[in-house]
Amino acid sequence: MSNVLLEAKDLVKTYGEGEGLFYALNHVNLSIYEHDFLVILGGSGSGKSTLLNMFGGIDKVDSGSIFFQGKDITKFRDKELTLYRRNDIGFIYQFFNLINDITVYQNVVLAPGARDKKRAMRLLEQVGLGDKKDKFPRQLSGGQQQRVAIARALNKSADILLCDEPTGALDDASGKAVLKLLEEIHEQGKTIVLVTHTREIAEMANRVVIMKDGKVIKEKKNENPKKAAEVEW
Ligand SMILES: Nc1ncnc2c1ncn2[C@@H]1O[C@H](COP(=O)(O)OP(=O)(O)OP(=O)(O)O)[C@@H](O)[C@H]1O
Ligand SMILES: [Mg+2]
Repeated sequence: MSNVLLEAKDLVKTYGEGEGLFYALNHVNLSIYEHDFLVILGGSGSGKSTLLNMFGGIDKVDSGSIFFQGKDITKFRDKELTLYRRNDIGFIYQFFNLINDITVYQNVVLAPGARDKKRAMRLLEQVGLGDKKDKFPRQLSGGQQQRVAIARALNKSADILLCDEPTGALDDASGKAVLKLLEEIHEQGKTIVLVTHTREIAEMANRVVIMKDGKVIKEKKNENPKKAAEVEW
């Protein structure tokens, strides 16, 4: 059995109050093991992004704990949390979160925790945007912006990559190129957590988690994960 890298224990996140109280996460327990390729599936509004944001130290929990290598990040002070987000976690946001007044290349190079310039350029080429490096995000399509966000997240040395719908805004060919990149990153020894609506993508995972109404309703193992090139949707 491999080691647990990230673990959610009895996580609760609510919005609103009184009659309007709503459980975005309703007592969620989930372990992510070193070198997992974990896919989280679930309908719109089931809590997938909320859970990923908690793992990424982006949002505050109401109650429960999140252990990273044994330390409870919900107890971290601001400075520790900033370091955690910068050094320990790579994050691909559902809505990209690019900085709009700097170029594509600068977005990849200047991100907190970013590595060398050569690697940034290579990643931009790998996601098919070498020729757009000096453009600003607003000059790109949604799919192109998503690929910048992916290059930015990959230009870090974090051991775990949290990806929220990384193929959501992409056409089939670009989506497959992104899956191929994630597969390579996984083969280099990293841990991948990928949230998606696309069931077929779950065939790449070694573990699949299904969420509904703020709960994990199913966890299953996949003994024979497919290669990115074999996934069709
Ligand atoms: N800031 C907020 N205020 C109130 N409710 C919120 C807020 N953020 C999320 N929610 C609610 O929490 C629930 C879970 O949202 P979440 O973004 O995690 O869903 P999701 O599974 O990622 O959906 P999608 O597949 O559409 O991205 C939704 O019902 C949403 O309306
Ligand atoms: Mg979401």
